[in-house]
Amino acid sequence: MIKKGIILAGGSGTRLHPTTLATSKQLLPVFDKPMIYYSLSTLLLAGIRQILIISTPADLPQYRRLFHDGSHLGITISYAEQPTPDGLAQAFLIGETWIAGEACALVLGDNFIHGDHLSTLLSAAASRPEGATVFAYQVRDAERYGVVSFNADGKAIRIIEKPVRPESAWAVTGLYFYDARVTELAKTIKPSARGELEITDLNQLYLVEGTLHVEKLGRGTAWLDAGTPDSLLQAATFVQTIQTRQGNLVGCPEEVAYRMGFIDAAMLRENAKAIGKTELGRILTEIADGLHP
Ligand code: G1P
Repeated sequence: MIKKGIILAGGSGTRLHPTTLATSKQLLPVFDKPMIYYSLSTLLLAGIRQILIISTPADLPQYRRLFHDGSHLGITISYAEQPTPDGLAQAFLIGETWIAGEACALVLGDNFIHGDHLSTLLSAAASRPEGATVFAYQVRDAERYGVVSFNADGKAIRIIEKPVRPESAWAVTGLYFYDARVTELAKTIKPSARGELEITDLNQLYLVEGTLHVEKLGRGTAWLDAGTPDSLLQAATFVQTIQTRQGNLVGCPEEVAYRMGFIDAAMLRENAKAIGKTELGRILTEIADGLHP
């Protein structure tokens, strides 16, 4: 069972300038919560309770202010600096001591997955003892992502980072599960043409070895990223639509921690109180009172 997970919340958010000139992208609101809440919820849903948040030296204090040591969520949150954005795979080098040779997941702090049966899919990935698991999602603008191609039998044959002419419409999402060899493998990666340690190169190592599981996320799942003004607004509208229509929360770590049994109703009520007299605080109190089965 993978017990550890890294949230990468670094980068300079250039596609959101000037909004991100003075603040961290992953702290911007996606409707009623900071963006990082959604990726944290994903890890919690996978049963992961040891979290490392990696961000820039300037932004890391804000994340500490937001989450402290994580005990209010029944988890432990540690923090590490990424002084310069040298690629996603660098997370495993920065986190080496913290990972301590164990298996580890990684989620990008601007990624967002929502759908039915997600917890089943995530806990299956977290309990795979060997190899790596990535998720693929059909998009219209695959050239913006790592793109995975499949052969006629549906087997993944290659992943290419931001191809000019994508071979398929299947983008690799920013959620990755790796076995205990991840740090050693990450150390073998060389910087790409754009000077970054690419996560795609790490995934490609597992793929060539035959131990990469590529899970396709179907039409009933939403995968969004929130790295541009348009996608940020779309993500916010999505959350607003679902929450307002159903009264169910999307991407709320307090709720997930409670439903996963990491915290009890009394602690959830405390968390709701800290959030205050907002709609979110009110719904969390109702959940603690058993009004949302
Ligand atoms: C990164 C990865 C890419 C992946 C994407 C998912 O791209 O390099 O393979 O598909 O995240 O969000 P970036 O957001 O750094 O451009």
